[in-house]
Amino acid sequence: MPRLPTSLLREAYTIDRLLPALLGPCRDLRAARNELRWLREHVNTIAAARPARGGTLAKDALLRDLVRQRASGKPLQYILGTEYFGELEIMCRPGVLIPRQDTAASISHLVCSIRNAQSLPSELRVLDLCTGTGCIPLLFHHEFYSARDDIDLRILGVDVSDTSLNLAAHNLKRMRKDKSWAEKGAIGFMKADVLLNPFADQKGGRLPLKRAFETNKQLQSWDILISNPPYISPSAYWKTTTRSVRGFEPKLALVPPPHSTTADTERGDTFYQPLLHIARDVEAKIVLLEIADLEQALRVARMARELRIFDGIEIWRDQPEQTPDTTPSSTQGGFSILGQGNARSVLCWRGAVASWLGKPTPGISLDDDAHRLLKSHGNFTSSFHTNGLSI
Ligand SMILES: C[S@@+](CC[C@H](N)C(=O)[O-])C[C@H]1O[C@@H](n2cnc3c(N)ncnc32)[C@H](O)[C@@H]1O
Repeated sequence: MPRLPTSLLREAYTIDRLLPALLGPCRDLRAARNELRWLREHVNTIAAARPARGGTLAKDALLRDLVRQRASGKPLQYILGTEYFGELEIMCRPGVLIPRQDTAASISHLVCSIRNAQSLPSELRVLDLCTGTGCIPLLFHHEFYSARDDIDLRILGVDVSDTSLNLAAHNLKRMRKDKSWAEKGAIGFMKADVLLNPFADQKGGRLPLKRAFETNKQLQSWDILISNPPYISPSAYWKTTTRSVRGFEPKLALVPPPHSTTADTERGDTFYQPLLHIARDVEAKIVLLEIADLEQALRVARMARELRIFDGIEIWRDQPEQTPDTTPSSTQGGFSILGQGNARSVLCWRGAVASWLGKPTPGISLDDDAHRLLKSHGNFTSSFHTNGLSI
């Protein structure tokens, strides 16, 4: 990282003696001034909540301490204790991944795409695997019910980490203080491991998700499966993440665990095959998986295609809603790509729910194998089944 010019440090010091320390993590004066303002506001809020704990001197000492923490690279969200996820303010704590706005953009787009569909069931069941702060279930609930309230949403967030689950429960409790939240739908959180083989020993008290589902009938079918799993390969962890991420955010949330046989790229992809198998087992009709980049998106889309259960698979970049209606989306490897910027997620759907997404209903598109078979049969005319659908 290039050194900061002395003139900039001097200018910062003349504005406020605490500013130069914030230039390190912020890199420019405007961002450093904003952060100092937020830290001051935070200190004032704490002081107002605990008036008995000293006056200006205590406040100054606290502010100096928070600036020192920030200068060491600690993410501002862990210091202030919150981050916005869409419109929602989500509590953040060390040990749990800070929610990212890119994730929120994909979730909002999914919710906006389906929430006005006429054919939604009266009970809509959403499973969020690797839930972290619980930000995805909370945003889904918030955005869905901001448009309609005639559907009973049942959302389950699953994570392997107790720290995450405690925070998710805390975030839910905070939201439910608003009475309108408490009255609509239901959100729950559960501890389970999405990678563990159900026949393997339960390591360290970890319950394989598949075993949890086997023993509870109510958990066996879901309409929508969403996941933002750990997806960074070990080499990308060192090359693409910042020092602040590596130093303060949990590696458990970012890099899949080691396997004796997997290469670097495969290790980054560890979660997707088990997630797609869970989607198949719980008969999920819509699956939204976050990915790191276009290469990973294409690998995941191919894995999904190989399962032969989906009628449509597409890749969303940032702001998929910004794909202009008049311009056809680009395609790669046979998959449509929507939006601008980095690839963010892979969307798969099957059956009649295509209509929830405003997509053509199945039966009119052929997958690659079907095309090949049709070609090899020349003027093939009789009905042919692919993915269980008559075409
Ligand atoms: C990338 S974070 C996503 C958190 C949250 N959904 C978000 O978007 O901010 C991945 C989450 O997966 C959880 N996780 C890691 N390994 C897991 C496993 N084997 N089973 C279930 N959850 C796991 C981590 O604890 C972490 O909370």
